[in-house]
Amino acid sequence: MMNVKFLTSNLHNAKVDVIAIPCFEDEKSNQYVSLLGAAFADEYKRLRKTKAFSAKKATVHSLSSLAKLKANTILLVGFGKEKELHNESLRRAVSTAHMAAKRAKASSYLSLLNQVSLPDTAFTVTEAALLTDYSFDAYKSKNGKKDTKIKTLYLWNSAKKANIAESKQIKKAQILASSTNYARDLVNTPPNDLYPELLAKEAKKLKAANCKVTVFDEKALKRMGCNAILAVGKGSVRKPRLVIVDYKPKGAKKSLAIVGKGITFDSGGLNIKPGSYMETMKCDMSGAACALSVVKAAKALGVKHRIIAVVAAAENMPGGLSYRPDDVIKTYSGKTIEIGNTDAEGRVVLSDALAFTEKNIKPDQIIDLATLTGSCVIALGYWPTGMMTTNDLMAERVHQAGERTGDRVWRLPLWEDYKDSMNSDIADVKNISKGRDSGTITAAIFLQHFVEKTPWVHLDIAATAFLKESQFYKPKGGTGAGVRLLVEYIGAM
Ligand code: BES
Ligand code: ZN
Ligand code: ZN
Repeated sequence: MMNVKFLTSNLHNAKVDVIAIPCFEDEKSNQYVSLLGAAFADEYKRLRKTKAFSAKKATVHSLSSLAKLKANTILLVGFGKEKELHNESLRRAVSTAHMAAKRAKASSYLSLLNQVSLPDTAFTVTEAALLTDYSFDAYKSKNGKKDTKIKTLYLWNSAKKANIAESKQIKKAQILASSTNYARDLVNTPPNDLYPELLAKEAKKLKAANCKVTVFDEKALKRMGCNAILAVGKGSVRKPRLVIVDYKPKGAKKSLAIVGKGITFDSGGLNIKPGSYMETMKCDMSGAACALSVVKAAKALGVKHRIIAVVAAAENMPGGLSYRPDDVIKTYSGKTIEIGNTDAEGRVVLSDALAFTEKNIKPDQIIDLATLTGSCVIALGYWPTGMMTTNDLMAERVHQAGERTGDRVWRLPLWEDYKDSMNSDIADVKNISKGRDSGTITAAIFLQHFVEKTPWVHLDIAATAFLKESQFYKPKGGTGAGVRLLVEYIGAM
């Protein structure tokens, strides 16, 4: 991981390759450019006057230092209007600067972006830079790994004294970024190398004195009556698992269970997906990756609440033993599910996981995360996660955590009006609705049958967990959606 340190130095003498300076569209003058000397101040004035650089949001203009500084390059980083400055515009500016520093082949750079007037900028800049720095190259042979790496990011410290509070911010940002990047790695790992048994093995790495890991294999699941998880996994030679990671610090009073959909590959099963839809379906365990990563972060941060990750892991494949449309399954809760479509498998595994969580773990709150419906992509696009709940207080708090972290959510209704959408003629509930309307909500209505009384939020991360195009500090591929959101939520719990 890239190092992050403070640097107290005259800008001329800073031994770095690149210096990044914040610039506002509506600024009167730029104090940092002025510190570089009159020649740079004049050049900056010219650039602004000719509009060669207008400091619009997330733009960057590169200047040669002409050997007047130790650094080779100065990056002028646009922030847009000063009054529109908030944490997300800072994160985006940081990612823009970081990518420009990479393009300039910098092995170190000094960022003055922590100088903008927002609280906790050392945290925000460090986190955004580490998130932007992520790349998944575990599967590239040596020659393919030539991509230049930035070794050190320096945050400018004009105060000339090491500040303990700021150093703590760096530490916290490193934990959040590495936990998010861990989720990204799990999501990006190809499905031939990450099937349910291996996901369980990964979870076991979280074991510690205050963190118990329990893995239920197919025999245990049979004994327990987790027939829904078993049914989804039947078509695959890779057998399903239910994994519980219970982080329970001494004196914990409140508890939150995070239930994650862990379909390590979703072919659709007998209702097989057409090729282009099947591509990227290794991402169907993103909910599970998030649950594990939040516990990892909670441990590292020493969170004082009990946090339990519950992972329902299975591979959804067609085969002679596959579950079928028309099957009826008796779930762990005792309720029966009529299968209408084997590709609506996420809700099926979650039915057991949610009921198990409520009955055995008895947490104060449950939040589930699942790449559950293609409809969520249609409804909201790739920016927010879909949120459904009947608990307004939890909804508000999750929403606020989203606004603070940039890991945003948008609520969809879970009204009584939709209640009958998943009715079955022969079982208690059916895993598909009659029409193609409101698919994200009807999936949540299905899940609602399996949470009886615990305050519960459902997060549909189908659009946000895996991207075709990067969004600033969120890369192409696995994004770690939900990790920073839930750590922030827990912080305010
Ligand atoms: N894993 C998919 C949902 C999905 C789609 C996730 C795109 C990420 C990107 C899920 O299991 C699924 O196939 N859902 C079906 C449900 C339908 C059969 C009712 C869907 O959304 O089409
Ligand atoms: Zn599916
Ligand atoms: Zn799925």
